[in-house]
Amino acid sequence: MLPMDRFRLDDKIALVSGASSGIGAALALGLAQCGATIIAAARRVERLQRVVSGITAAGGRAHAVALDVTDPASVRGALDRAESLAGPVDILVNNAGVAEPSRFVTTNAGSRDHVMATNFDGVWNLTQEVAKRLLARKRSGSIINVASILGIGAGVGYASYSASKAAVIQLTRVLALELGRSGIRVNAIAPGWFVTEMNDAFFASDAGKALAARSPAGRTGELHELLGPVLLLASDAGSYINGVVLPVDGAHLVALV
Ligand code: NAI
Repeated sequence: MLPMDRFRLDDKIALVSGASSGIGAALALGLAQCGATIIAAARRVERLQRVVSGITAAGGRAHAVALDVTDPASVRGALDRAESLAGPVDILVNNAGVAEPSRFVTTNAGSRDHVMATNFDGVWNLTQEVAKRLLARKRSGSIINVASILGIGAGVGYASYSASKAAVIQLTRVLALELGRSGIRVNAIAPGWFVTEMNDAFFASDAGKALAARSPAGRTGELHELLGPVLLLASDAGSYINGVVLPVDGAHLVALV
């Protein structure tokens, strides 16, 4: 096998949660272009259909599946549907997430619970169900959690978000240990700032432009810049990488001054 062949995802089925927009939509297209059959999963099926059409138009294979990661019954149903459409999921990209920035003292419990339920419980629910199915079939797999540099560093206004992503990072490490010997690798990426629907209003503001300009790279990331790191973790090219949290942030995390 040639080195580049180990990056190919032919015959792999990859479920991307939150694939209807932003990072998830970009990763779904990119992984499809590397050969995977994509299960594009999120709550907004009509938006997923647009992502699926884009993948199909680019010569890839994809299916839209309704999924609410906070609801275990929805998770089971989505995986049943994915299996009937394409087969068992080999690669899981836990990308669905929300951010509701606000100062700690004024953040209400409902907002905190919503962020934790989506960003942490959602990863837990989907990973548990995918892992159970892989183990039952004695299949190997790769799980990639989309954490954040805010799960490692901290920022004012991100108490619930940072806590949820830090929890995802620790879950990643424990699962790498628990599942690694069964051939299931669990890793995370920690993106810096990428302009998506989650933050586009902020990055259009003067404060957002100033933040991007003073970051080490002098700019926000481009969505395609997440594909290479995810592909490394997803494919056989990364077969000995397990339990890592890979920042993809243009050195944002390491900048002290
Ligand atoms: P986005 O708002 O465009 O995408 C979030 C996706 O999650 C959407 O498709 C949404 O429908 C889905 N989603 C939300 N709740 C869901 C639920 N209960 N069930 C199923 N799907 C659900 O935002 P973006 O930026 O693409 O976010 C994707 C991931 O990347 C999130 O986990 C986010 O925390 C993470 N991230 C984003 C960064 C950025 O700068 N944009 C930086 C670091 C991490």
